[in-house]
Amino acid sequence: MKTTSDFLVIGSGIAGLSYALKVADEGSVAIVTKRDISETATNLAQGGIAAVFSDEDSFDDHIRDTMVAGAQLPNEEIVRMVVEGGPQAIHDLIDWGVQFSRKEDNSYDLTREGGHSHRRILHAKDVTGREIERALVAAVRQHPNITLYENHIAIDLITEAKLAHRRILPNKCLGAYILDIDKKEVITFGARITILATGGAGKVYLYTCNPDVATGDGVAMAYRAGATVANMEFMQFHPTTLFHPLAKSFLISEAVRGEGAILKRRDGTAFMERYHELKDLAPRDIVARAIDNEMKIHGDDCVFLDITHKGSDYITERFPNIYETCLSYGIDMTRQPIPVVPAAHYLCGGIRVDQWGESDVQNLFAIGESSCTGLHGANRLASNSLLEGVVYGNLAAQRSLERLPSQTNSFPAIESWDCGTATNSDEEVVVAHNWDEIRRCMWNYVGIVRSSKRLVRALRRVQMIQEEITDYYWDFLITSDLIELRNIATVAELIIRCALEREESRGLHYTIDFPETDDIHWKRDTLLQKQF
Ligand code: SIN
Repeated sequence: MKTTSDFLVIGSGIAGLSYALKVADEGSVAIVTKRDISETATNLAQGGIAAVFSDEDSFDDHIRDTMVAGAQLPNEEIVRMVVEGGPQAIHDLIDWGVQFSRKEDNSYDLTREGGHSHRRILHAKDVTGREIERALVAAVRQHPNITLYENHIAIDLITEAKLAHRRILPNKCLGAYILDIDKKEVITFGARITILATGGAGKVYLYTCNPDVATGDGVAMAYRAGATVANMEFMQFHPTTLFHPLAKSFLISEAVRGEGAILKRRDGTAFMERYHELKDLAPRDIVARAIDNEMKIHGDDCVFLDITHKGSDYITERFPNIYETCLSYGIDMTRQPIPVVPAAHYLCGGIRVDQWGESDVQNLFAIGESSCTGLHGANRLASNSLLEGVVYGNLAAQRSLERLPSQTNSFPAIESWDCGTATNSDEEVVVAHNWDEIRRCMWNYVGIVRSSKRLVRALRRVQMIQEEITDYYWDFLITSDLIELRNIATVAELIIRCALEREESRGLHYTIDFPETDDIHWKRDTLLQKQF
């Protein structure tokens, strides 16, 4: 089966949906998403969206905080562009129907998070992402030019080089092969412009607060198609996810620390002052490493986050979702500290794009967490990601609309997907086993504190699994589990290769073999591009 549209958007979080809304008046839009439309990392975002919205704040301060958190690796021009685009991005969201929390005087309630020198985070209580996703989904569903394909997962991009079975420069994207999961049918989606907004890759690690969909699909597909990827070593570990055997890494928002919560050892001693002058509000990489260190030194399974001093009325009003969720696991955060551990949270690297969100494969854009724009550098400042999603959704839309007239209306003949001699797999246990092995290996060898020896060991393991996947991939009928397994294996390999390349410690990449920051050799991005 074949279908075509002007714009093919893969992913349905804040970046993909805001892009779709910006272009939909000018052409047909297909949004492809591999589960339900709202099963996205955006939907789980608790803290909020950073933007300069108060007279006491300034663009320069937001830029400085982003550069400091990013360990001076962010591209300052990009940081300025995104930060200055913040107020407009907020107004766009409000126009689409997002309702942010307000104070009694009706002004927006601005909260604080780690690394921010001012209160500048707009939020909707502690379910900001859910409110944004709700509003954007409603707007998208109403637009007559937008067709939504839920339960459809992208397999691979279609490029001129792929169709010609040879290297073509510059390579051009023509759409994607998409599996209709329910019908088990591969559809050829032709598109004049293709947008990857597939989110992050937390599922590459054993412990993550990301949703199940975060398998790095966009990064893996773009890499296979020949696009450059950058800075994959910078996986952000959120310092505080709920430690409970049944909680599946539920996030305890940084806004809880922003509003005064204190990290403590089991014996009640606060410890962050030993690690940073900003104490509990230090940048995330520092807090996550401090917790990791405390757990190792004291042989504890977790540390504790204490906000009991703020009183139960305040806590239940400001953090209703976190309060209820903790309570459902038997933890009353108004009376007792919350047990927490770090978990994989945000991929700062990704598909390298220019200031319009365009990759080095023509007509292929990447926005949101799947992209590497230069905003985050070596560590993302909290709540800059939702901001980046809207700003780049808009920029990519502008550039796509400029590109559209020059793209032919008639699509080239695109070969249908070839299932080869595949038969139904009766060995799904192999897929499940390989998933588990990759995630454990990444957690144990490519986590918060790294060494060259462990990275080399991890690379060997992952490459062996990749060989197995390749055999399996061409021998059996394709399933979404197999597609995701292939993608997490690719992303794991890219993370390890970038981590091995960077012979210094900076931001989220800390290695005991090169513990210092080396500005002379390494104040630059790590880049990988597939050689054909
Ligand atoms: C949080 O609420 O702590 C997450 C915010 C973010 O990652 O930007």
